[in-house]
Amino acid sequence: MKKNLLTVAAIAAVAVSGVCQPTQLKYEELAKTPQMGWNSWNTFGVNINEQLIKDVADAFVTLGLKDAGYEYIVLDDGWMDMQRDAQGNIAPHPERFPNGIKAVADYVHSKGLKFGLYSCAGWKTCAGYPGGQGHEYQDALKYAEWGVDYLKYDWCHTAPIRDMADKETYARESYTVMAHALREAKRAVLFSMCEWGSNNPWKWGAAVGHSWRTTGDIYSTFDGVRGYSFGVLQILDMHDQNMLRRAAGPGSWNDMDMLEVGNEGLTLHENQSHFALWAILNSPLMLGNDVRSMTEETRAILTNKDIIALNQDTLGIQAFRYKTLSDSVEVWAKPLADDGWALLFLNRSKAPRTFTFDWSAEQRIVDDFFHKEIAFSKEKTYKIKDLYAGKEIGATKKPLTAKLAQHQSLVVRLQSTKKK
Ligand code: GLA
Repeated sequence: MKKNLLTVAAIAAVAVSGVCQPTQLKYEELAKTPQMGWNSWNTFGVNINEQLIKDVADAFVTLGLKDAGYEYIVLDDGWMDMQRDAQGNIAPHPERFPNGIKAVADYVHSKGLKFGLYSCAGWKTCAGYPGGQGHEYQDALKYAEWGVDYLKYDWCHTAPIRDMADKETYARESYTVMAHALREAKRAVLFSMCEWGSNNPWKWGAAVGHSWRTTGDIYSTFDGVRGYSFGVLQILDMHDQNMLRRAAGPGSWNDMDMLEVGNEGLTLHENQSHFALWAILNSPLMLGNDVRSMTEETRAILTNKDIIALNQDTLGIQAFRYKTLSDSVEVWAKPLADDGWALLFLNRSKAPRTFTFDWSAEQRIVDDFFHKEIAFSKEKTYKIKDLYAGKEIGATKKPLTAKLAQHQSLVVRLQSTKKK
């Protein structure tokens, strides 16, 4: 009888935790679409603590972020103590996380969300806390014990190597050690590699982790450079996107860094362009604002289901720059799983621009690399939905004309008018 009661209690415990625990996929099955979540760095730097993270988890649920698909809550640099403990274990910062990391992870999980941490492939993190080098397996076990579902792994304080081939090998091997450690710890952890595109991660990243940063850090501006930090346009232009897109696909993504949407320094139109560009380029959508106090305008952008759907499209093909129209309007194109396409018309200029896009003159848009094409003719037309206005704005029968304010984008989805 006693045994039976215990069994019932055990089953009940599993059932209760089963409700709250996110499903555990295997390493290889993660990030089939780009990861979505929040990261503490862009707004809070190292000034993070248990209450903040709990409040962010609450806000995910109450403000509709969870429903929109945001899933991971990730603590960036500063969550750890300045020293490892006597056994070499990584330990939480005693004032910021007095109840330990597992308590925070449990809270995040209790909301049906997933939990992530930051560490670094060097001997110290970028903010000077202990790094993972030489402790990879020990740390991976600790993360598994705490219930970590996501690891962002940085590149500060690694060895300075000059030769490019050696640099690439060193970076690839460093990240591979951590990837092995995560697998050995037997918990499915999404591995977000952050070596800023400095060792050609697009060449080797897909075989190692789930995403790789392509650039130095973003900061909250549309067009500008500040030291090693870059604005939206600089990140967009830093590498040949045509080269980058070839390396990405389900399970492995180019990471253009955390979003600055909602942070001071960007206008409404800039926020919309930034978000839509990251979405169609299949970058992870990791929020970087203070979601607890975001404006309705910011919330509307970040929870725009039509834009998010472009990012989460199961085909996983990253957009490409199709052409530049006269007067700095760039056209970006992304093939989608339903045979429709997304197009983004970006006004890069500081002045308003009016453009016309004549579908019948274009005839077709071709993605050579992924062998996709969309053709426009009298027989084959598409309905056009403006995804920020949330309404249909005609069809490809007639040329599309629109006026874009400074840094504004028109983001449209083309849908076949023919029933299948
Ligand atoms: C680097 C990374 C940032 C952030 C900081 C933390 O600069 O690129 O995203 O993680 O370190 O110190």
